[in-house]
Amino acid sequence: MRKSKITASAQISILTVDDDPIITSTIKDYFARSGYDVDIENNPVTAIERVRNGQYDIMLLDFLMSPICGDQVVEEIRKFNKDLYIILLTGHKSMAPPIKTIRHLDIQGYYEKDDRFDQLELLIESCVKSIKQLRTIREYQDDMSRAYMQTIEILRYVVETRDSETRGHSERVSKLGAAIAQEMDLASDQIVMIRTAGLFHDIGKIGVPDSILLKNGPLTDEEYQQIKKHPADGEKILSTYSPFRDLLRIVREHHERVDGRGYPDGLAGDQICIGARVIAVADSFDAMVSNRKYRKGLGMDRALDELIRCKGGQFDETVVDAMLAMVERIGRDVFESSYFRNETLIGDVNI
Ligand SMILES: [Fe+2]
Ligand SMILES: [Fe+2]
Repeated sequence: MRKSKITASAQISILTVDDDPIITSTIKDYFARSGYDVDIENNPVTAIERVRNGQYDIMLLDFLMSPICGDQVVEEIRKFNKDLYIILLTGHKSMAPPIKTIRHLDIQGYYEKDDRFDQLELLIESCVKSIKQLRTIREYQDDMSRAYMQTIEILRYVVETRDSETRGHSERVSKLGAAIAQEMDLASDQIVMIRTAGLFHDIGKIGVPDSILLKNGPLTDEEYQQIKKHPADGEKILSTYSPFRDLLRIVREHHERVDGRGYPDGLAGDQICIGARVIAVADSFDAMVSNRKYRKGLGMDRALDELIRCKGGQFDETVVDAMLAMVERIGRDVFESSYFRNETLIGDVNI
C-alpha cells in the first residue's frame, strides 16, 4: 500500500511557502516520507519567481507573511499560471482570512494549521488525483493531434505528388500569404492562421479524379464543376479537427472574388474573410509564375501587372497593394530569386 502511494506521488512536485522555516522544514520532512518531492521557500516574493521559473504542481502557501501575504502571492501567480494547485495554510481561526477572501481567491483548498498533517495529506492526495487525470487527458489529446496532423500531411503530399507540376505550390502560397499578411500588419495569430491555411488550401483536390486534375487541355464545363468542389471538400476534410476550426473559412473561400463572381458561394468584398482574400492573391500569383506543361510561367513583372489589373475585380485592392509594397521593399530581383528557392520571405514570422 505504502509503495504504490510512493510511486503515485513521485512525479508531483510541491513548493511549500511559509516565512517560518520550522513549518516549511516540518512539512518537507512529513511529505518526503510519503514520497513527495518538496521544495522550501521562506520568502513570499521569491516564491512567485520560483513558480514562474520552475515546474511545480502544488503550492502550500501560508496566509500571514511579510512583506506580502498569501492572497497577494496567489493574485500574482494567477497572472501567468492557472494550472498550479494552491492550498492556503492559515493559522488558528482568529488569524485566518475572512471566508469572503478565500472564496474570491483562485485556490483549490485551504487548511487550518494543525500539529497533525493527515487532513492536509488528504487534500494533497485529491489534488494529485486531478493533476494525474489532467495529464492523461493532455497526453491523449497530444497523441490525437499528432496522429491527425500526420494524416492531413499525408493527404497534402498525395495531392501534390499526383500533380508533379504543382509540387511546392502549397508551401509557396503559405509563405507568400504570411508575408503579405505581415505587410498588412495583421495580428500575429491571424498570420499564423493564414500560413497554415496556405498549406492546406487545396487539400480538397484529393477528391478530384486524375483524369481532370492532370488533363492536358481545356476542361469541359462538367470537369470544371468538379474542380470547383475542392474548396468545400477541403473545408469538410479539415472540419473534423477542432484546432483547424478557424481556418475553415479561408479554405472554403479561397476562390471567391471581391466582385462576387467567384465560387463556391459568390461572396463579395469583405463578406470574404480577410485570410481568404490574402490566400487568393498568393495562390493566383503562384499559379501565374509557375511553369505548366502547356505554357511557361509568366515572368514576375507580368504577374504583378496582372494582379494590379485585377484589383477590385478578382482581388482585394489592399491585399494587392500590400504584396506590391512588400516586393518593392525587398527589391524585385531579390524577391524573384528567393521565391522559387522557397526561402523565407519575412524575418520575424517563423515560417
Ligand atoms: Fe484552390
Ligand atoms: Fe492553390
